[in-house]
Amino acid sequence: MPTTTASSARTRSRPATRVPAGPTRVAKASVARASAAAWPDHGAPREPAYRRAGFAGRPHRMTPTIRPRHDAVGLGLRRALMDPLRAAPTGAFDFLECAPENWIGVGGRLGDAFNELVSRHALTCHGLSLSLGGCAPLDRTFLARIRQFLDRHQVALYSEHLSYCSDDGQLYDLLPIPFTEEAVHHVAGRIRQAQDALGRRIAVENVSYYAAPHQAMDEASFVNAVLDEADCDLLLDVNNIHVNAINHGYDAAAFLAAMPAERVVCLHVAGHHDEAPDLKIDTHGAPVEPPVFRLLDEAYGLLGPRPVLLERDFNFPPFAELLGELDAIRRIRDTRFPAGGMAAGDA
Ligand SMILES: [Fe+2]
Repeated sequence: MPTTTASSARTRSRPATRVPAGPTRVAKASVARASAAAWPDHGAPREPAYRRAGFAGRPHRMTPTIRPRHDAVGLGLRRALMDPLRAAPTGAFDFLECAPENWIGVGGRLGDAFNELVSRHALTCHGLSLSLGGCAPLDRTFLARIRQFLDRHQVALYSEHLSYCSDDGQLYDLLPIPFTEEAVHHVAGRIRQAQDALGRRIAVENVSYYAAPHQAMDEASFVNAVLDEADCDLLLDVNNIHVNAINHGYDAAAFLAAMPAERVVCLHVAGHHDEAPDLKIDTHGAPVEPPVFRLLDEAYGLLGPRPVLLERDFNFPPFAELLGELDAIRRIRDTRFPAGGMAAGDA
C-alpha cells in the first residue's frame, strides 16, 4: 500500500481586504430561468437536517439560489483562467465552481472581474478548509463568511471534502478520516453543525487518500454511513474513485454502484499523475484519462444526468483544450442520453 500522504495541489490565495459588490441580479435572473426547471427532484422536500436535529440556529431567510441544470457541464473557476472564462462564448460551459476561500474579501479589479463573471453564470462552491473531519471546533466566523458569500452569489450547491485539514492550525492538506463508527458519528455531527450554521444542505466529496489510518469498514460503507447520519448530499468525484481503486486495490465499478444515487448532486472529473502502475496521484494538473471518462459513462448510466465539473488547478493548457475536455464530457452524456438528458433515471 502506498505510504504517500495526501498532497493534492490546490489553488489557495491570500484574501484581499475589500468586500466585493454583489452580482448583477438581472443577468443572474436569466441564468435562474434557464437552470431551475430541470434540476433533479429527489422527492418530497425533507425538513432540513439542522432543524430535525434540534440545532438552535437562527431561522434561515430563504435566499434565491441558482442550480446548474441536471445535465450541465462546468469548469473550475481559477484565477489563471479569468480572462479566457470571461471571453468565452455563450454555451462554452454551463456553470462554474470556485473555492470560496479564494474569493471571500477579494476586491479591486480581480474582485470586479469575479463578480462580473459569476453574474452571468450559475456558480457552485467547493470548499477547501472547513475541516469536517477535524477535531478542533468548526470555525463559526469562517462559516458565517461562507454563508454570506453563498447568499451574495446565489449559490445553491456548496460542497466540502470528507476529510480533515486542520487541528490547532491549518495543515493545507486534505487528510483521510479513519473508516470507523466513531469517526462516522464525529464527522456526521460536524456536517450537521455546518448545515445549521450555513442554513442549507451541503454535499460532501469522496476524497483521494494515500495513507489509510484505520479501516474498520470499507470506504463505500463509511461514505454511506456518514451521508445517512448527517443527512447530507454527495459530490461524487469520479477521478478520486479511479485513483483510490488502483491505489487501494478495490473495484471502481463496485464502489460506484454502492453510492446512493438519490444523494448525488454533482460529479467531478479531473486528471491525475501516473506515478506507477499501482500508484496514481490526484493532481488536477493533467488531462482527464480515458479510464476516468469510462467511469463517468458508468456513473451517468447508474445515476442519470448530473452536473459534471471539470477540475483543473494548474499546468493549464490552452483554453481550447479545456473546452475540448468539456466537449468530451458532453459526447459521453449525449451518447447516454440522446433525448437531451431527460432519459429515465433522471432522479
Ligand atoms: Fe473533486
